[in-house]
Amino acid sequence: MIKFLLNQELREEHSLDPNMTVLNYLREQVAKTGTKEGCASGDCGACTVVLGELDGDSIRYKSINACLTFVSALDGKQLITVEDLKHQGKLHKSQQAMVDKHGSQCGFCTPGIVMSLFALGKNNASPDKDEVLEALAGNLCRCTGYRPILDAAFAMYEDTADDQFTLREAATVERLKKLQSEQISELQHGNHQCHNPRTSDELAALLLQHPDARLLAGGTDLALEVTQFHRELDRLIYVGDIKEMAQAEVFEDRIELGAAAPLSKCYSALSKDYPDFGNLLHRFASLQIRNQGTLGGNIGNASPIGDAPPALIALNAQIVLRKGDQRRAMPLEQFFVDYKVTLLEESEFIEKVVVPRAPAADQFRAYKISKRLDDDISAVLGALNISVENDVVTDACIAFGGMAAIPKRASHCEKVLIGSAWNQATINKAMEALEQDFAPISDFRASREYRMLTARNLLQRYFIESQIVEVETRVTAYV
Ligand SMILES: Cc1cc2nc3c(=O)[nH]c(=O)nc-3n(C[C@H](O)[C@H](O)[C@H](O)COP(=O)(O)OP(=O)(O)OC[C@H]3O[C@@H](n4cnc5c(N)ncnc54)[C@H](O)[C@@H]3O)c2cc1C
Ligand code: FES
Ligand code: FES
Repeated sequence: MIKFLLNQELREEHSLDPNMTVLNYLREQVAKTGTKEGCASGDCGACTVVLGELDGDSIRYKSINACLTFVSALDGKQLITVEDLKHQGKLHKSQQAMVDKHGSQCGFCTPGIVMSLFALGKNNASPDKDEVLEALAGNLCRCTGYRPILDAAFAMYEDTADDQFTLREAATVERLKKLQSEQISELQHGNHQCHNPRTSDELAALLLQHPDARLLAGGTDLALEVTQFHRELDRLIYVGDIKEMAQAEVFEDRIELGAAAPLSKCYSALSKDYPDFGNLLHRFASLQIRNQGTLGGNIGNASPIGDAPPALIALNAQIVLRKGDQRRAMPLEQFFVDYKVTLLEESEFIEKVVVPRAPAADQFRAYKISKRLDDDISAVLGALNISVENDVVTDACIAFGGMAAIPKRASHCEKVLIGSAWNQATINKAMEALEQDFAPISDFRASREYRMLTARNLLQRYFIESQIVEVETRVTAYV
C-alpha cells in the first residue's frame, strides 16, 4: 500500500498498477482531467504537477512531469494539481496573472504552465529573468509566443498575500510526517509489483531476492519503456525513498553523490567546485526532469549521450557498486563496456559516485552541443580537464559523449598533450589524435563529420578560453 495526500485528501492505495503513471492516475482513477497529456515523453510540460516533499519542518515543492512518474513515487508526499489552486472561489495568483496578462489562448499548455509558475512562486521570492526562464523551459506553448507568459510570471509577484498552501503548511507538515514509514511499502496489481525500500540494506536484500527486478529512480528514462514502447515492467524497486542514497555531500577532499540524489541536488553540490558542471546540469533537460531524474539513472541507463558520465569521467570520478553486503569501487570510465552494456552484475546496484575536489591547477570545462539550448539531449558533449604548469601540460583527462557507443576517454589525444608545451602547435596535433580515438556514427542528432569536427573544435575552444583566462589573470595582477 502507498499513502499520500492528494492536495489535502488522504489517499491509501492498495492495488494500483505500478506501471501506471501519475498522469493516468489523475485522469482515469480520480477524474482530475485538468492535467493534460501532450507528448507523454517529458518534452512538452502539459502534464506538469507539483510534489510537496517533507524537508525537515517545511515542504519543498517540486514541479515534475506526471507522464514520466509512476504512482509508487507518490508514497509519503503531497500531490498538487491545477484543480487545487483555486481557493474559496478565487483564482490562485499564478492563474490570475495568466488571465490578466493574456497568457493563454487555446489553453492546452496552460495547466502545466500554471503549475510551473506555482512551483516557482513557492520556491523563489523574487526571481530574475533567467530563473523564470529556467522554471518555464520545460513548458511548450504553440500559441502565445511566450511574452505574455513571462509577463504573467512577474505579475504574480505583485500579489504578496500568502496562499492557502502557505497558510496551512504547518498542518500539512504534521500530516506528511504521519505518512512517513520505516517499513518497505509495496504495490501489487496482477503480475506487476513495486517495492519501496527505505534503506540501502533493504534494497540490497530485495535485489538478491529478486534479481529480475528493474530499479526505478526518477523514471524519466524507464517510464518511456511503458509510455512509448508499451512494455510491461513486472517487478520494480523504487529507490527514491532511500534517504541515505539521496544525499549529495561535500567533504574536504571529495563530493559524494548518492545514486538516488536528484540532478537538481547534484547541481548545488558540484557547481561551487566545478562551475562548468553546474552550468551543464542547468542545461540538462528541463527543471521538471532535473527535479525527478537522478545521477544513478543517468549512469545506469548507460546512454552514449548521457550528460553527466563524460563530465564525471573527466573529473576522475569513482563509482561505488553494491551487491548484498559487498561493495566495489572503480573509475567510472571502466564501468561502461559497450553500447548499453556495463560491468553491473545481477543483483548489483549503483550506490554512489565519488568526485575528487578540484586541485588548484586543474581546469575543468564541459561543453554541451545540442540543437536547442533547453530541454535537448547532446549531439556531442566534451569534458576537458587539463592541468598546465609553466606552460607545459602536466595532466589531461578528456572524455566525450556522443562520439562512441559509450562515454569514452580521448586517450590518444591525452598522450599527445601530456608533457607537451601548451601552445597551438600541440593543440593541432591533439586535434589530429582525436581521429584515432573516435569513429562516431551519423544519426538524427548529427552526422559523423559534424561530430568529429565539433570534438576538434571543442579542444580548440578550450585552448582559446585558457588563453583568455590567462590574459585576464595577468591584467588583474598588473592592476
Ligand atoms: C524530455 C527528456 C529530456 C532529457 N534530457 C536529457 C539531457 O539533457 N541529458 C541527459 O543526460 N539525459 C536526458 N534525459 C534522460 C534522463 O532524464 C536521464 O538519463 C536521467 O538522469 C535518468 O534518471 P532517472 O532517475 O529518471 O532514471 P530512471 O528512468 O529511473 O532509470 C534509468 C535506468 O537506470 C537504472 N537505474 C536507476 N537507478 C539505478 C541505480 N542506483 N543502480 C543501477 N541502475 C539504476 C534503471 O533501472 C533504468 O534502467 C532526458 C529525458 C527526457 C524524457
Ligand atoms: S505530456 Fe508532455 S511532458 Fe508530459
Ligand atoms: S495556449 Fe495554446 S499551446 Fe499554449
